Amino acid sequence: MRKVFFGSVGALALLAGCSSGEPEPAAPPETGDTTVHAIMVNQIDKHADELWDVSNAAIGNNGGLDPAKMDDARWDKIAELAEKVATGSHAVAALDPITVAAPGVTIGDSGLPGGHTAEQVQGFIAANPELFREMATTLGVHMDEIAAAAHARDAATAGPLIDQLDSVCESCHVNFWYPEQKELIEQFQNEGTVDPDHPALGPAAPETAGE
Ligand code: HEC
Repeated sequence: MRKVFFGSVGALALLAGCSSGEPEPAAPPETGDTTVHAIMVNQIDKHADELWDVSNAAIGNNGGLDPAKMDDARWDKIAELAEKVATGSHAVAALDPITVAAPGVTIGDSGLPGGHTAEQVQGFIAANPELFREMATTLGVHMDEIAAAAHARDAATAGPLIDQLDSVCESCHVNFWYPEQKELIEQFQNEGTVDPDHPALGPAAPETAGE
């Protein structure tokens, strides 16, 4: 498996496109994904959604992946997409400084009630950049494991990893995108609605005010 580490995604991608006679890769949606937002949209969410589309078509009766519904094309697609999400995750972990969005760019929920601006998210990350990078790396490692299982055609390993993927995403979102909801998830947990091991609960629970 070929693994590319993008220290500076934009610069490397541009160099790769210009420096040789090789055909240029399909133009990325924008030049240089150097913000959390751009990498999230163009690499992580995009390719994770594509991966889920492939795996959803092969879900077994009891969840997981039904090996009978998997063929080489699907396995190869899952491996390829997992590697792309991993590349995006490692690029997020390597951002320095960690910039949420380019000036003037509006992030997804910022106009919505209870939504956040890029500046607010920037503040959440500034409070604990180490944890943010660690969670980006965790996603990268998780995707590497999915890719390895796909290459090995190992449905028993790939299935649970894909099932857990969403909560790996959410564990970061609930810490750095909409941290207010962390408390809410804790309430659900106390009511038994949420699995106490839900990774979104993460480290450092917020203190509960009163009853
Ligand atoms: C290391 C932390 C981290 C991880 C892991 C992570 N995200 Fe995000 N994500 C963020 C932050 C911070 C934002 C808010 C900034 C933004 O909206 O662009 C965000 C925003 C988003 C958005 C909204 C983008 C928009 O329109 O503004 C989507 C969709 C998304 N993430 C999908 C995913 C998926 C899918 C995964 C897992 C495969 C994932 N994220 C994993 C940190 C993370």
